[in-house]
Amino acid sequence: MGELNDGLLRPRAAISPKYFYDNQGSRLFDAITALDEYYPTRTEAAIFESAAAEIAGLVPAKTILIDLGAGNCAKAERLFPILNPAAYLAVDISSEFLFEALQGLGQRHPELPRQALAVDFSAHFELDDESTAWLSHLGLDDRPRVVFYPGSSIGNFAPDEALGLLQQVQAVCAASGTGGGILIGVDRVKSRSVLESAYDDALGVTAAFNRNLLRHLNRILGADFVLDRWKHLAFYCDHKSRIEMHLESLCEQTVRWPGAERLFRSGERIHTENSYKWQPQNFAALLTRAGFTPTQHWTDADEWFSVFWATV
Ligand code: AVJ
Repeated sequence: MGELNDGLLRPRAAISPKYFYDNQGSRLFDAITALDEYYPTRTEAAIFESAAAEIAGLVPAKTILIDLGAGNCAKAERLFPILNPAAYLAVDISSEFLFEALQGLGQRHPELPRQALAVDFSAHFELDDESTAWLSHLGLDDRPRVVFYPGSSIGNFAPDEALGLLQQVQAVCAASGTGGGILIGVDRVKSRSVLESAYDDALGVTAAFNRNLLRHLNRILGADFVLDRWKHLAFYCDHKSRIEMHLESLCEQTVRWPGAERLFRSGERIHTENSYKWQPQNFAALLTRAGFTPTQHWTDADEWFSVFWATV
């Protein structure tokens, strides 16, 4: 809770985007991925579909598939026929949502060993004792590990933080020897209008997703945010190559939570998300700096999104 308190009291208030993902927020994110304006999900899916045979040829079979930010597990499940994993480890911060998704998956793939790791991997990523025990119980400690990190979730991290996370992912992959790697989707720099409408859709689903953060804070922090006093804001920042999302106070108001309060002036903002966009050559360089060997890269006809396969 210290993190939330500190973030709200900072001169420029900021909350980590991981707090979007309570149960409701995970559902709203699913709704975002179905929007016309939100191109990343369907563009990435099309890339995976057209590159399926190539991916199947590059990624070894019978690996440990580690799904970072698994969400509803649907993206990984669609890759099962291509990747043929020996076991599936789903990692996500939204525990209830994750357990439910894994249960559904178990009914469709009863033969595939599966495990949930409900952690916040944003500051630090490693396999916990339970996951490593699960792998050795299955006799799979030496299998190559493939980390699947789709959807440009890496975009939530500033370049230096992204490097840190990728280094930790590299260490997890390398811990079982060679053959493994990372299969990662990254959103690309493109025109401002395409980017901004993806984060400010006509139906207001992204606005609801953004403001749901306040409901989540009311619940977990005991704050008294009034949702209709806050406006959704999303814009592309050219020199940082990132979409920024904010919540803007529509009036002067005081928000209270146990132990503290803050006055927000009309127009004052809470910074809720950064979504970095990459040029593929810069992202390949980042993978290299993290200790990976970028082996293959696929994109769509518009060059809006990229998928990388990089080995340990
Ligand atoms: C889950 C971080 C990839 O940045 O596009 C979608 C989150 N925020 N619409 C993104 C998000 C607003 C999404 N990521």
